[in-house]
Amino acid sequence: MRSFLLLLLLSPAALAAEVGGVVVSVSPPADRVGEQVLAKGGNAVDAAVAVGFALAVTWPEAGNIGGGGFMLVRPPGAKSVPVVIDYRETAPASATKDLFAKGTGSAHRTVGVPGSVAGLAMAHAKFGKLPWKDLVGPAVKLAEEGFAVDDALAGSLNGGLARSKRFAEFQRVFGKTKGKWVAGDRLVQKELAKTLRRIAAKGADGFYKGETAELLVAEMKAGDGLVTRKDLEAYTAKGREPIHGTYRGYDIYGPPPPSSGGVCLVLMLNILETFDLRKGPRFSARTLHLMTETMRRGYCDRARHLGDQDFVKIPAHLTSKEYAKKLAAGIEMNKATPSEAIAKDIPLTDTKTNTTHYSVIDAAGMAVSTTTTLEDSFGSKVVVRGAGFLLNNEMTDFNPRPGVTTKTGLVGTTPNQIAPGKRMLSSMTPVIVCRDGRIVLVTGSPGGRTIINTVLCVVLNVLEFEMPLREALDAPRMHMQWFPDRLQVEPGHFDKHKKAVEALEAMGHKVIKVNAQGDAHSIWLDPKTKTYRGEHDKRREGRPAAFGKP
Ligand code: GLY
Repeated sequence: MRSFLLLLLLSPAALAAEVGGVVVSVSPPADRVGEQVLAKGGNAVDAAVAVGFALAVTWPEAGNIGGGGFMLVRPPGAKSVPVVIDYRETAPASATKDLFAKGTGSAHRTVGVPGSVAGLAMAHAKFGKLPWKDLVGPAVKLAEEGFAVDDALAGSLNGGLARSKRFAEFQRVFGKTKGKWVAGDRLVQKELAKTLRRIAAKGADGFYKGETAELLVAEMKAGDGLVTRKDLEAYTAKGREPIHGTYRGYDIYGPPPPSSGGVCLVLMLNILETFDLRKGPRFSARTLHLMTETMRRGYCDRARHLGDQDFVKIPAHLTSKEYAKKLAAGIEMNKATPSEAIAKDIPLTDTKTNTTHYSVIDAAGMAVSTTTTLEDSFGSKVVVRGAGFLLNNEMTDFNPRPGVTTKTGLVGTTPNQIAPGKRMLSSMTPVIVCRDGRIVLVTGSPGGRTIINTVLCVVLNVLEFEMPLREALDAPRMHMQWFPDRLQVEPGHFDKHKKAVEALEAMGHKVIKVNAQGDAHSIWLDPKTKTYRGEHDKRREGRPAAFGKP
């Protein structure tokens, strides 16, 4: 904090002169595409649009044109407020609330109307400087000519192929004629290149109309899917106001419903602000307990209240400081609250996901925080025949069985039940944090319901515990989501905090070790160098940190 304060005393001009453009995503070739766009004079949105399309080629498990996402754009200027572009998928017109009551049926039935191409087109129309075709062009080239697979992508493809043996087109498009993918192999996607060419030439119409739409609808018909031509033509991305909260003088901006990310993050930060977290170290039992209890309450309200704001009234009190104080007062300092005890109004009858986040800032100080997803890794595993792209299985983000909420984590509350044209509730939490009008952190993560807690951990590590971003990203993460009533911690990372974990168990927390949590490619204002610096999360791809180039 002290170092931030020092920095804030610097004149904006001094700072701006030292600020360089930075692009951080999960995929090195996609980073290069973004950097080249910035080098050609494109702004952060131009770079983010180009990275979005590039990831559909270079990180197919989550980068996409057949899925959706949320983008926060903060134009330059001390008084500038971020704008949210919501390109979440929608339920097809024929989807009803009982669609999945007896199970999801074919993979095709889990496909929501894709939003990504409309969202990227809206971002470009509102903020872009360079011609659209120059932003889609690099993705066309990567798909057409292929690119070298690295260890992370080889692992991702091999894993996806092993899990999707019954999807013949997936095996054809992503399989190797012989053996497994290894670093240095070349991935070429000719059919995807043709689809991207249509998008480059015609904009969003190159996806929602004409040949791409025909191929998508034919794929739906062949597999008992619900998305029709009319659904595609009716899809629109939406510009929305962000959720805004404050935390100890910082301004926090996140996406509004249909993402639960902004509301839950602000609600949880408001609760935690009522405690003096610095009284103990970051990994003390006290801090971990308070964070767990806060997460429990945030996720309970997520289930109780949140859904698509165009269909459901979102209570305004959820992000108020007064409401957070009330919830904080219910936290016992040395005892876990059973999850059942905070939700007597939700009848209890006794759900893995993959997404990707990237952050961009340009030399003028325009920032973009984008999270995009196909839902599961490689989405529905359905590749549109003749068009070479994967479709999402985002319909599974709706509450599948109306009224059925279980202690194992199934949620059946009303706000997120399926309705025609409705957007399914998301946990995606692309965030921009400012102080006195200046951006200090751009972050977000994949990870399904864990996303909001990953972002909470990163934000707290930087803002409250003053960790440099590298340390903040490497630090152990944890997740509690109301039900199941247990605290998930990262194995390995948490081993050096055994005593704190034992103390948590003595308070009544059930602590389990699960896989690595999240992949938060982030940018922060480094108080030492006074430049924006990008850091890759090392959990998925193990690359060394990247630095913003002036
Ligand atoms: N499909 C992950 C999310 O939207 O939260």
